[in-house]
Amino acid sequence: MNSPAKIPSDVKAPVVPGILIRVAALVCVLVTATALLGQDKNPFAGDAGAAKLGEFQFRINCAFCHGLGARGGGRGPDLTRARKRDGNSDAEMFTTINQGVPGTAMPPNGTTGQGVGMTEEEVWQVITYIRSVQVKAPPQPAGDAVHGKQLFYGDANCSGCHMVEGKGGRLGPDLTAVGMARATDAIVDSVRNPSRRLAPGLLEATKEFPQEYETVTVVTAKGTEIKGVTMNEDNFSLQMMDASEQIHLFDKVALRSIKKSRTSMMPIYGPALLSDHDLQDIVAYLQSVGGK
Ligand code: HEC
Ligand code: HEC
Repeated sequence: MNSPAKIPSDVKAPVVPGILIRVAALVCVLVTATALLGQDKNPFAGDAGAAKLGEFQFRINCAFCHGLGARGGGRGPDLTRARKRDGNSDAEMFTTINQGVPGTAMPPNGTTGQGVGMTEEEVWQVITYIRSVQVKAPPQPAGDAVHGKQLFYGDANCSGCHMVEGKGGRLGPDLTAVGMARATDAIVDSVRNPSRRLAPGLLEATKEFPQEYETVTVVTAKGTEIKGVTMNEDNFSLQMMDASEQIHLFDKVALRSIKKSRTSMMPIYGPALLSDHDLQDIVAYLQSVGGK
C-alpha cells in the first residue's frame, strides 16, 4: 500500500498547509485501520474448537432466522449450501455478517438481540462454524426448473398473485428472492399451509416485528364489504389491497367495521391440487431465479 501522507522533511512548509497534512495523516491511519478490520483470512479456518465457539454464537444471534444447524429457517436461507449468494469467500461472508444485506431481513452485526455486536474474533468463529456444517458439493437441484416455471405461470397459477422478476400479480409477496432467502422446507410449507406462518410485508423486511400479509375485511360506511391483504396500518388509517389488486386507503373512524384474520388469502395447495413432484419443480424454479 502506498502512503499518501508521507511528506519529505525538506518540503517547504507554506506549500502544504498543516491542516492538509493532518487530514492526510488521519486518512492514512483510517485506511490502515480498515485494512486490519477487513483482513480477509480467517485466522481460525478449520479449527474445530473455534467452530464450537462459533456454534454457540450462532445459536444466540443467527439460529432465529437461519435455523438450528444453519439449515435454514422461516426467515433466513440455508447456510449449509456450498454456493453462497452474497459471496463465497470468508472475507465476503465477514462483510455480509458485519454489514447485513441491505433491503433484506439480514441485519448488520449488533442490531438484534441485546444490541451487543459480536467481536471480530467471534465473527470469524461463526464463519468457521458455518464452514464446518457446509455440504461439500452443491446438491443437484431436485426439481425441473423449466417445468416449474410453466406451472408457476400456467396450471398452478401462482403468477395470478405473485410476481417473479417483474412478471405476475401483486396480491401476494414478490417471490423473486424467496428461493434464496428461505429454506426449501419453509417454501414448501408456505404452499401447503399458507396460514401457518404469514409472510412478512415487503416494506418491512428489516423490522423486528414486520407487518405481515394479514387478511383484512372491512365494511365501509356505505355498507360495501372489501376483503384483501393489509399493506400498512397505524392507529388512524389502514392501507389494503383487494383481490383485484386495487389499493384502498381508509380512515379507520369512517369504517363500519374492520375484521382481521390470520387465514391467508392464498389458497391451500394440497397434494391433490399440486403434486409433490410439481411442487418440487416450482421450488426448483424459484431457486433458479433471484441471483443478484
Ligand atoms: C432477522 C433474520 C436474520 C438474522 C437474525 C440473521 N440473518 Fe443472515 N440472512 C438473513 C436473510 C433474509 C438473508 C438473505 C439475504 C439475501 O436475500 O441476500 C441472510 C443472508 C446471510 C448470509 C449470506 C448467505 C448467502 O447465500 O450468501 C450469511 C453468511 C448470513 N446471513 C449469516 C448470518 C449470521 C452468521 C447471522 C448471525 C450473526 C445471521 N446471518 C443473522 C436473515 C437473517
Ligand atoms: C390468490 C392469491 C395467491 C395464489 C394463487 C398463490 N399465492 Fe402464494 N401467497 C399469497 C399471499 C396473499 C401470501 C402472503 C400470506 C401468506 O404468507 O400466506 C402468499 C405467500 C406465499 C409464500 C410465502 C412468501 C414469503 O416471503 O414467505 C410463498 C412461498 C408462496 N406464496 C408461493 C406460492 C406458490 C408457489 C403459488 C402457486 C403454487 C402461490 N403462492 C399461489 C397469495 C397467493
